[in-house]
Amino acid sequence: MNNIIFTRRSVRKYLDKAVEPEKIDRMLRAAMQAPSATNQQPWEFIVIDDRKTIDKLAEFSPYAKMLPQAPLAVVILEKQGMRAALFTEQDLGAAAQNMMLQAVEDSLGTVWMGVGRGSERETFVTEMFSLPETVKPFGVFAVGYPAEENANKFVDRYDENRIHWNKY
Ligand SMILES: Cc1cc2nc3c(=O)[nH]c(=O)nc-3n(C[C@H](O)[C@H](O)[C@H](O)COP(=O)(O)O)c2cc1C
Repeated sequence: MNNIIFTRRSVRKYLDKAVEPEKIDRMLRAAMQAPSATNQQPWEFIVIDDRKTIDKLAEFSPYAKMLPQAPLAVVILEKQGMRAALFTEQDLGAAAQNMMLQAVEDSLGTVWMGVGRGSERETFVTEMFSLPETVKPFGVFAVGYPAEENANKFVDRYDENRIHWNKY
């Protein structure tokens, strides 16, 4: 239980250290490696390493107070008008998890901040980046080197009551 799937945790405190371009590249490649309905790949990304822009983005939600300490943020965007539009949210969840797991593999910490379809947070991010109608913000992700040792650590969430064999 010590592979990255089991040890990934939400990390909200970071070292004052930039994330190397090759690690950012791997995170984005991992995200785009995700499965998607009809292979529609409904994702785009805004990668933000500009301090002022990350600080401004922190205002999108009361639960984003870690952003002003983070050296990097990624906004995952949901492309609109996809052929399998019913499934884009699931596709993006897979992409987000892939991205976070690759970050852990590269000794980074991340936290996912939900945006929420039709929410005020969605409006904030849309206006902040002057997004066209072809994309909507799906999630905001803070990324950085964890300030605390073992921030990514195993927490056992296994619950056999959630498993149903052959019938419910
Ligand atoms: C859709 C989604 C939205 C989330 N939104 C926030 C958020 O706004 N702020 C935050 O600090 N954590 C947020 N989280 C992180 C969860 O709080 C965290 O994943 C959960 O408590 C489990 O902890 P772990 O990630 O360490 O396993 C979000 C997670 C998901 C999947």
